[in-house]
Amino acid sequence: MNTLLDKIVSLAKRRGFIFPSSDIYGGFSSCYDFGPLGVEFKNNIKKVWWNEMVKNHENIVGLDASILMAPRVWEASGHLSAGFADELVECKECHKRFRFNEIENKKCPECGGKITEPRKFNLMMKTFVGPVEDKASVTYLRAETCQGIYMNFENVMNSMRLKIPFGIAQIGKSFRNEITPKDFIYRTREFEQMEMQWFCHPKEAKKHFDFWAKERFNWYLNLGIKKENLRLREHKKDELAHYAKEAIDIEYHFPFGWKEIEGIHNRGDWDLKNHSKFSGKDLSYFDENPPAGGKEKYIPYIIETSGGIDRSLLVFLTDSYQEVKGGRTTTTESAKEVEILLKLHKDLAPIKTAVLPLVKNKPKLVEKAKEVYKILKIHFSCQYDQVGSIGRRYRRQDEIGTLYCITVDFESLEKNDVTIRNRDTMEQERVKVKDLLNILKEKLEH
Ligand code: GAP
Repeated sequence: MNTLLDKIVSLAKRRGFIFPSSDIYGGFSSCYDFGPLGVEFKNNIKKVWWNEMVKNHENIVGLDASILMAPRVWEASGHLSAGFADELVECKECHKRFRFNEIENKKCPECGGKITEPRKFNLMMKTFVGPVEDKASVTYLRAETCQGIYMNFENVMNSMRLKIPFGIAQIGKSFRNEITPKDFIYRTREFEQMEMQWFCHPKEAKKHFDFWAKERFNWYLNLGIKKENLRLREHKKDELAHYAKEAIDIEYHFPFGWKEIEGIHNRGDWDLKNHSKFSGKDLSYFDENPPAGGKEKYIPYIIETSGGIDRSLLVFLTDSYQEVKGGRTTTTESAKEVEILLKLHKDLAPIKTAVLPLVKNKPKLVEKAKEVYKILKIHFSCQYDQVGSIGRRYRRQDEIGTLYCITVDFESLEKNDVTIRNRDTMEQERVKVKDLLNILKEKLEH
């Protein structure tokens, strides 16, 4: 148990961020459950993304489309053809399966055995609607949320009276029958995406593509990700997805290498053109004010920003994880131990504040601390903890990224005040209980 990823997996389970799915049955197929802190963390990521995309832009609106759609959607999108398939190989000796692009020298990465010829394996998750499991009732769990956006291009544009360029944003679950899910929550079969589809004039697509690539890159930087751990990587022609004219990945330097966390794609007119063809509904747009003047009818181009909530959560966990040697919390018992500090951005940290009575065996202190806890808990995610030495309790909060610990001591009883301890600087300030809420609001909300 010593690689960074192992440590993060262990912390995530121990402190209620992420558990293996169906844990008492030994887990299930790289599926994970998000625990009490995990769900707060995820909700924070979604909120920050939604605010950034929908609230900060005048011309982006939201949507929540259904996961199950008419199977023709996936024929038109190209997901049922070879374009949305991985090449699968099997080791002839240990019979483990791998994606062909993970193989070097045509040998099994596990045992070095010979491998079979690659064969195509479609990633769509099949299911049946209704009681009869026949061909006519087959449909699919969506493999990307954006198809629900294309289905509603006209509904949204007309109901909201939008004019091009505009965007539709959506957060939701997607499913892919991945051959080799791995690296904890990095590649799973069930995951959440945060996608925004930007509809624009074909001649302006490049300009918007460059704009959104920059915007999305800066989003991660602004949330505290270290610059040296982030990069943009353009796709070469032969690695472009079947729908893309141009693509750029935002990559993060994980403990298991540089990997994609978000893709920005110029999807051209691929989606709306194919959906027009397959549905018989003309999805072209009549532009009364195109860039070259006059009037013009065309199929809009789409610039897509497509990120994963699970992947970005792993990025934020990994990037904020620190081990500090030698008693950060200044108690003798912890002086020789390694202390974990999760330096999460304030908007992402699952727990913002914790209230700690200095000792638990003084009823008056406990009573006062509970009073303070009651004031805070309806405003911020807040924990109350009275178990163990104060140093240990600071450590417990540091390792889940709690921003401020509020300590109630003997002086608090006389002066009606508390101390606020800053997670990062460990500085403590004394404030009156009557001012506490506003001071914390100022720190957390600005
Ligand atoms: N609509 C375009 C699209 O889905 P993608 O590059 O296949 O593009 C976009 O996926 C993002 O979705 C990825 O950058 C990643 O964050 C997330 N994602 C894709 N497959 C995933 C998986 N198996 N497990 C976790 N996240 C995944």
